[in-house]
Amino acid sequence: MERKILIIGAKGMLGQDLANILSNFDLALWDKQEIDITDEYQVKTKISALSPDFIINCAAYTAVDDCEKNKDLALAVNNRAVGYLAQTAKKTGTILIHISTDYVFNGQNKDGYEENSQAFDPVNFYGESKLLGEKDLQLIAPQFYLLRTSWLYGKNGKNFVETMIKLGKEQKELKVVNDQFGKPTYTVDLARQILYILNNNLPFGIYHAVNETKIGGISWYDFARKIFELANLNVKLEPCDSRVYPMPAKRPQYSALINTKLPPMRDWQDALADYLKEREKI
Ligand SMILES: NC(=O)c1ccc[n+]([C@@H]2O[C@H](COP(=O)([O-])OP(=O)(O)OC[C@H]3O[C@@H](n4cnc5c(N)ncnc54)[C@H](OP(=O)(O)O)[C@@H]3O)[C@@H](O)[C@H]2O)c1
Repeated sequence: MERKILIIGAKGMLGQDLANILSNFDLALWDKQEIDITDEYQVKTKISALSPDFIINCAAYTAVDDCEKNKDLALAVNNRAVGYLAQTAKKTGTILIHISTDYVFNGQNKDGYEENSQAFDPVNFYGESKLLGEKDLQLIAPQFYLLRTSWLYGKNGKNFVETMIKLGKEQKELKVVNDQFGKPTYTVDLARQILYILNNNLPFGIYHAVNETKIGGISWYDFARKIFELANLNVKLEPCDSRVYPMPAKRPQYSALINTKLPPMRDWQDALADYLKEREKI
């Protein structure tokens, strides 16, 4: 019998691509209209009634800067709601796949972070709230996959690639930060990695799912340069340090996730080229 999969956050950037990639499964696609995951009663009753084999939680409060001022909301969505999902998964014998972030780490390790790294101590409240969610998940859910990813872009959400293309069309010169390093990841590739997990009965635990870069990741400047090159935008690009663009939330300096457990994902440049081709079709 086809396994029943509930995607929560199905209207988000990852959720929409995931729904596409998993379209051969028996899917329930829920977002805020169908469930508010911060409401414990709704989570328990609605999910128990649906009785899925898998819950994939793509819902989160992802506005990193806003999390600094809306700490209650960040904790409600990124921490407590994960606890409710984990309790429900435990009670109903459901496997819970939860998405987390490179921002749970302290950003000090130039080489990056493997799945079992304990170098937490996030530099912003978004990372703090996601880390608390990770902890509750691991404490409560007996059957979970915790999938960390980073620097996501995809056709259904706000992201760095779209921002650069917009700015590149409006401006002839741009400064982009060259002192923060990570691994940009295409939501379609992440969705394929989730499909791999669903199909391969892997041991429960923590996984890292990112497009590959050189060791230690690339900078936002490197990323922007490649975007302009592939999109044929003629922009004079200048590297700068993050003090030029002060933000409400501090960003980790080095946050490359190292994947030692899943099959390696393709190189970030190939993924980006594919994304740029795909977005032309929209
Ligand atoms: N974006 C990145 O660069 C990035 C990097 C690393 C990890 N991640 C993680 O990857 C996952 C997917 O990220 P994404 O960028 O695809 O997120 P997204 O586009 O912001 O989508 C999240 C979805 O969850 C919904 N949602 C928010 N609060 C909810 C609630 N209380 N109940 C039900 N649904 C709710 C949102 O609805 P509204 O839009 O109406 O609020 C939205 O549709 C998240 O766990 C995120 O932390 C993202």
